[in-house]
Amino acid sequence: MSKQIGIAFVLILMIAACGGTATIAPTSAPEPTAAVETLTVGHQLFVTKGCAACHGQVGEGSAIAPALGATQGTK
Ligand code: HEC
Repeated sequence: MSKQIGIAFVLILMIAACGGTATIAPTSAPEPTAAVETLTVGHQLFVTKGCAACHGQVGEGSAIAPALGATQGTK
């Protein structure tokens, strides 16, 4: 008997947990979260890893490498 009560208790907990977290608000668009520090770190990587040598300081491209973002992954 006590086992059945335990199972019922767990089920109630699961239902309560799902009801609490399953609320998705489709109306609110996500805020941009990339902090300036994050972008700075990314640019430092781009430069220190040598990407900038071919793709330019801001990915504008050069005679030997395409501008980054220009093809949007279609190539
Ligand atoms: C030695 C020069 C060189 C270096 C260094 C270099 N790339 Fe490139 N990259 C190229 C060339 C050339 C292409 C074009 C390849 C092609 O069209 O087949 C390219 C293509 C790309 C593309 C695809 C661009 C597109 O729109 O098709 C991306 C993304 C990219 N590189 C990122 C990077 C990153 C990130 C780094 C640094 C980790 C880097 N590259 C370092 C020369 C370089």
